[in-house]
Amino acid sequence: MYIFDTTLRDGEQSPGATMTHDEKLEIAELLEDMGVDIIEAGFPIASEGDFAAVRDIANRSKNAVICGLARAQVPDLERCWEAIKGAPRPRIHTFIGTSPLHRAIPNLSQDEMADRIFETVSHARNLCDNVQWSPMDATRTEWDYLCRVVEIAIKAGATTINIPDTVGYTAPVESAELIRRLIQTVPGADEVIFSTHCHNDLGMATANALAAVEGGARQIECTINGLGERAGNTALEEVVMALKTRGDIMPFETGIDSKKIMHISRRVSTVSGFAVQYNKAIVGKNAFAHESGIHQDGVLKNAETFEIMKPEDVGLATNSLPLGKHSGRAALRDKLRQLGTEVGDNQLKDIFVRFKDLADRKKEVYDEDILALVTDAMTDG
Ligand code: KIV
Ligand code: ZN
Repeated sequence: MYIFDTTLRDGEQSPGATMTHDEKLEIAELLEDMGVDIIEAGFPIASEGDFAAVRDIANRSKNAVICGLARAQVPDLERCWEAIKGAPRPRIHTFIGTSPLHRAIPNLSQDEMADRIFETVSHARNLCDNVQWSPMDATRTEWDYLCRVVEIAIKAGATTINIPDTVGYTAPVESAELIRRLIQTVPGADEVIFSTHCHNDLGMATANALAAVEGGARQIECTINGLGERAGNTALEEVVMALKTRGDIMPFETGIDSKKIMHISRRVSTVSGFAVQYNKAIVGKNAFAHESGIHQDGVLKNAETFEIMKPEDVGLATNSLPLGKHSGRAALRDKLRQLGTEVGDNQLKDIFVRFKDLADRKKEVYDEDILALVTDAMTDG
């Protein structure tokens, strides 16, 4: 399974997520080091800064394919090629909106757009032997027209066909079916890689990407922390860990070293200024945290009771058992041991009563609070 990361392109298009040149270079290096197959480094014609970032990422790259985005226009394609040509493995990604709503913007008829696709994909292919083509808003494009334009792009030399759910409109059952039917119907489909690019407007981006894989997609486009336009894109960490954890029903390998996920997630959060929500799957602060007594007791006896992944596998040293009003005696005793305090059963009972009283007043009880409770218990006691 090819992992195509677009944190530096679609992710950076997220309002307010702009990164500096050096930050982009750092993230690209981390992505390559983590094993991302294709890095979409930016949109070279968008600005001088974007061009320079894509060019410098391309020039420093080693194994990853470095991709630049270009609209279906010759100046875009030429600028994109200028930026990526220093990479050992460059790719041009060109796109055009094919749904009725998007065709209306340049006011092109179906035939005119089909001609434009043939010309621009052929042009891209003359510049670079690795060309990806996307029919933007594919999931709202008429079925017959979608088949027609995908066939044209393949004939013109596209090597990857990416099917974007640009507005996060599709549902998993449709996502799988769309890719499956395209592969079955379009002549030449077996000579290219089909890719999925999902947005999260209805919270279904990861489910849709995995469904597309079920339908035959072999490239997943995604971003770190799910950064991206509006509600974001499929999150890299989610698809990677879903494939790793549920290999029993989705037998696909990625080249991602999952132990590097947490570090890159934190760096992307810092440089983009986008905090990761506490309950975000895989990388949220609470993803491996257990507060309630029943859960803490279970996890202390056997982590698998409430964890389907190992924290170490995503680069976390350990899970956490934050103490709060739902916590039980087992977690309190465990915390006291970690703090170097061994207490007898009666003392534990006393400290536990004090702890519950405090926890009712405070959201989270910290190590310092626990140590103070122990001192109080000893003094009163
Ligand atoms: O969402 C989208 O359609 C895109 C394309 C440029 C692939 O990001
Ligand atoms: Zn997108």
